[in-house]
Amino acid sequence: MRAAAFSELTGPDGVSIVDRPTPQPGRGDAVVDVEACAINHHDLWVLEGDSAMVDTDDLPFVSGLDVAGTVREVGEGVTGVEPGDRVVLCPNETCGTCRYCREGPENLCENFALYHGGLAEAANVRADRLVALPDDVGSVEAAALPTAYMTALHMLRRVEAGPSDLVFVPGVTGGVGVAGVQLAAVLGAHSVGTSSSGAKLDRLESLGLDHAIEGTDPEEIRDAVTDIGPVDGVLNHLGGAYTQLGLDVMRRDGRMAICGRTAGGTSEIDIPDLFLGHKRIIGSTMGTQRDLERLVELVADGALTPEIDETYPLDETGEAFAAMQDRKSVGKLVVTP
Ligand SMILES: NC(=O)c1ccc[n+]([C@@H]2O[C@H](COP(=O)([O-])OP(=O)(O)OC[C@H]3O[C@@H](n4cnc5c(N)ncnc54)[C@H](OP(=O)(O)O)[C@@H]3O)[C@@H](O)[C@H]2O)c1
Ligand SMILES: [Zn+2]
Repeated sequence: MRAAAFSELTGPDGVSIVDRPTPQPGRGDAVVDVEACAINHHDLWVLEGDSAMVDTDDLPFVSGLDVAGTVREVGEGVTGVEPGDRVVLCPNETCGTCRYCREGPENLCENFALYHGGLAEAANVRADRLVALPDDVGSVEAAALPTAYMTALHMLRRVEAGPSDLVFVPGVTGGVGVAGVQLAAVLGAHSVGTSSSGAKLDRLESLGLDHAIEGTDPEEIRDAVTDIGPVDGVLNHLGGAYTQLGLDVMRRDGRMAICGRTAGGTSEIDIPDLFLGHKRIIGSTMGTQRDLERLVELVADGALTPEIDETYPLDETGEAFAAMQDRKSVGKLVVTP
């Protein structure tokens, strides 16, 4: 089979197509013929050599978390799925035995890891991590869901977003950002989001964004959000200067969930403002497999349509990463092997 592997950690030009033996399922595994695999900024960190998870000794490395396709073969002991089933993978890897696995939610697992290997024609995965797809949920839209939408849904839960709350999403045009806006709307919350690009923000209007702010200057953004109203919750996947910005626009007792660091891995914050305002900053990573099932149900019910910017054949995987790196896209980029 063919796979799009990271042969060098130099950015999008480090992707090359390699031949690999078609995987055989081990006990408890299933091999899925991959019809779609969404890419995430996480893969791009790896490809740029900016992830502690992969170094040059691991090359060539096949990334890709968000697999959707059809089960080709199952290993011994698998009862939940069978060849021919249409499925989407929950990329969570958990130990099942730590205190957090026992108490839940599973994404707290102290040995938490993520599946990699979807940027290929076939993927060998844990069969019990597969979620069945109804006929009316396509593989491309299903592949958009796991990382971005599970993460955004869990962040909305962490900030306790409810009907008519105002949710602030700095950097609103990417995978987690768009998912945050769409799912806030599903919950009946209102949203305000930012982007450096007015053209990209125009596309967010039809996806449920209530207030769009074009710009990158934290002071200007702070003023613009303040004019709209105090924010109940912040979905912060950027870090850097956006953490204090989020605190500045947040109401007393407001909540901020942080899942990423695209604009910086450290943030300076005003401690008195935090405690005098009773504000909360909450770390958040991925969501649960049950969240993925909920998301598939929302798509099947017509309540959610994942936003796909573009699909790419396997041999154009490097172009997909270049589009992400150049900040050209709105929503998800999906490779269709
Ligand atoms: N912890 C977790 O479980 C988890 C899960 C998913 C994602 N994440 C993290 O969340 C972040 C977003 O992931 P994603 O896949 O949604 O990424 P993405 O699609 O690449 O996000 C694009 C968005 O980020 C903005 N952006 C890009 N570079 C920026 C910069 N230097 N300064 C300010 N804004 C910038 C873009 O702004 P413009 O609109 O101006 O171009 C756009 O709105 C990443 O850091 C990722 O690692 C974490
Ligand atoms: Zn565990």
